[in-house]
Amino acid sequence: MIFVGELSDIPVGESVRVQGEVAIAVFNADGELFAIDDTCTHQDASLSDGWLEGCAVECPLHAACFDLRTGAPSGPPAKTPVRTHEVVIDDGLVYVRESAPVGAPATVDAVVAGAVL
Ligand code: FES
Repeated sequence: MIFVGELSDIPVGESVRVQGEVAIAVFNADGELFAIDDTCTHQDASLSDGWLEGCAVECPLHAACFDLRTGAPSGPPAKTPVRTHEVVIDDGLVYVRESAPVGAPATVDAVVAGAVL
């Protein structure tokens, strides 16, 4: 897991950027934390520099909005979702469990979970 910081380091309406395999943005949307890939899927813009509105972030470059819960863009110019990541809070400390890269082979757990026995 990737250490993000103390819960108090991410006030409501703010975001922080941490480095995993790629840069990840962690947002505090009305007291709920969400993590997504930081780079917009349209061009090279940092979503942690965008504007948070409810459960969505607006890209600072061309204003595509991404749902923090699903990573889905709400409309053009972005067409591809950003990856979402699990946020873990343990004793006031925030961590991100990074999702598998896009196109990565399924893990053994995922294969077993989907298997018909
Ligand atoms: S770079 Fe994000 S919408 Fe264009």
